[in-house]
Order: sequence, then structure tokens, then C-alpha cells
Amino acid sequence: MRYKTFAALPNTRLSVIGFGCWSLGGTSGWHDSDDQQSIAAVHKAIECGVTFFDTAPVYGFNGSETLLGKALKGRRGSVVLASKCGLLFDASHTIRRDLSYAAVRGDVEASLRRLQTDHLDLLQLHWPDHATPLEETARALRDLLAEGKIRAVGVSNFSLADTEAMQRLVPLSTYQGLYNLLEHNADSYHNIELEYRTEREILPYCLKNGMAFLPYSPLFQGILTGQFSAESTFAADDVRSANPNLAGATFARYIAVCEALKPIAAEAGVSLTHMALAWLCQQPAVGPVICGAQRPDQIADNAAAADVLLSAGTLKTIQEMLKRNAL
Ligand SMILES: NC(=O)c1ccc[n+]([C@@H]2O[C@H](COP(=O)([O-])OP(=O)(O)OC[C@H]3O[C@@H](n4cnc5c(N)ncnc54)[C@H](OP(=O)(O)O)[C@@H]3O)[C@@H](O)[C@H]2O)c1
Repeated sequence: MRYKTFAALPNTRLSVIGFGCWSLGGTSGWHDSDDQQSIAAVHKAIECGVTFFDTAPVYGFNGSETLLGKALKGRRGSVVLASKCGLLFDASHTIRRDLSYAAVRGDVEASLRRLQTDHLDLLQLHWPDHATPLEETARALRDLLAEGKIRAVGVSNFSLADTEAMQRLVPLSTYQGLYNLLEHNADSYHNIELEYRTEREILPYCLKNGMAFLPYSPLFQGILTGQFSAESTFAADDVRSANPNLAGATFARYIAVCEALKPIAAEAGVSLTHMALAWLCQQPAVGPVICGAQRPDQIADNAAAADVLLSAGTLKTIQEMLKRNAL
């Protein structure tokens, strides 16, 4: 494993490959999530040198944090634990955005209980809530920092303007956004409009401010492992069935690009998965690449990508190929 440090997150060694825990604890979309496999995957990750774990209350509707807390029992000291706040849900799992003072504090207290810890190493504002003034959210964050319940703050899916405004109110250490080999400046995610453009706006901002950028869906929800074809379909209980980019003509186009990437990976002597992850790890603004994994073998494979170093020639070939495909 390789590690990075960032000026905006001092004294914290971050593994270049992290573990995105959305699929843990079932029920929020990853079709064959299995608790024993997930716990084994967390333990395998630590064995492979992964130190960064990203979760959220909404993942598995509390299930991800509960299972991660269980898996990390006795191992909490060796990991950097990141969770989120601001997406509340009711008994029927209808989700709404709320970054009010009470909601942020309530989320953090509940996360600490589920994760069986007394502090989060990083708290991220999951999605912007335009109904709450940033000052109110920042007040909750400053109080939580002062009480030692959170050690650092990050934003996710925020516009550049809101990120800059929040930065003036509370120091930001990280930004989490959609980014992978095929989605550089995406304007939507699962039909939700994105208020930022990753490569154009956010990466330069992170670089300038010493912040770690955490790319989500780094494998394009598994598509960049090269295991799918244009004919692949996703079951109704698989979150990918709700991604409009993974159906019809758009999906066929992405699959064609994956096929064109495979010979470039073969020429470099690596798998497509490793090439996609190394492409992210090699970018200076990019911090832990938070790959999702349902099984120990998947996280072990992803962790091994930390040892891959793509040559300047390979990076250029990738860039030219993506340009030819208007990506
Ligand atoms: N802030 C946000 O709004 C936001 C949004 C989305 C995600 N996230 C975070 O980002 C994390 C990762 O994103 P993601 O889960 O959307 O997608 P991802 O990491 O791009 O893809 C994860 C999926 O790819 C497959 N996979 C992973 N490693 C593999 C390997 N080595 N070989 C074969 N298949 C492999 C697995 O699914 P199968 O085995 O089923 O194919 C896995 O569940 C999440 O867990 C979450 O922490 C944040």
C-alpha cells in the first residue's frame, strides 16, 4: 500500500486506496450484500494496508455504519473513519436533505453510537441543503470540532461557490465527488443534477488548498472492471438499475470505451481495474480512492492497484483515446 498526506488534513496518513462502505449492511441497493462477506472484506482491507473507510448514515439506512462499527471492533485505532451527515430518511426510506444545526448534531451522535466510537476522523456534508444557511451548518461543525466529536470536515457534491463560502466559515480538509476514468466532468448522478464539475473546478481547488479529493464511484459502479457488456442488465434491487448511464445507447457507448481501454491496459501489463484505479491514485489532488467492495477478494484486488505506476506514455495513450471518444 502507498500513503499520502495533505496539508489540509495534517498528521493523517491516508492509504491511496480506501474502502467505500455503501454496500455494507444491505437494503440500500447493492443486490447481493452479505454481512459475513462484508465484515471479512473490512478485515481483508486492513490486512492489505487500507486505512481509510467511508460510510454514511443513509447507506443501508443505518446498516452500513452498524456493520462497520461491528467489523472495526478492536481495530478502530488503525483506521481513519469518515462518515457523513445531512441526508435524513423516514420509515419508508424517503430521503430528504437537512443540514440544520439540529440535524447535523443528531446525525453525528447517532453515527458515533452505531460506529461504536467517540469521534469521527472526518465528517462530510453529504449533499448541499439550500434551505439552510451555510452559517448555521458551520456553527454545528465548529461546536462538534471543539467537543472533539469530529476531527476534520469535508464537503461532498457541493458547488465550487458553496465550497469556497463554507471554507471561509470552517476549515475544509476534503471534497468528495463523482470521478472516474469515464466521468471527468459529469453533470448528473442517478438523475440528480450535479452543481460542480470535478476536473474543471474541484480538482484545481483542492490542489490549491491542500485538500484531499475523494473520488466516488471510482470504478463507475463496477463497469470499469471490464466484466460487463452492452447487453448486461441490472436487477431491480441493484442500485445500478437506477443509473440512466447504465442502460441503452449511453451504456453501449461506455462499454465500447471500456473495450478500447482493455488493450491499453494489456500493453501496460495491468488489468483494466488496476489501470482505472492507478489513473486516479497518480493525480496529486486525489486522496483515498474509495472503492466499493462486496467481498474480500475485490478489496484485495483493488488494494493491489496501489502498487501500479502508469507510465507517461500510457497516460498519454489513455488521454488520446478518451478524447477521440469525446470523453
Ligand atoms: N458522496 C456521494 O454522494 C457518494 C455517491 C456514491 C458513492 N459514494 C461512495 O463511493 C463509494 C464507491 O462508489 P460506488 O460503490 O458507487 O462504486 P465503485 O466503487 O465504482 O464500484 C463498486 C462495485 O464494483 C464492483 N467491484 C469493486 N471492486 C471490484 C473488483 N476488484 N473486481 C470486480 N468487481 C469489483 C462491486 O460490485 P459487483 O461485485 O456487484 O459488480 C462493487 O460493489 C461508495 O461505497 C460510497 O462510499 C459516495
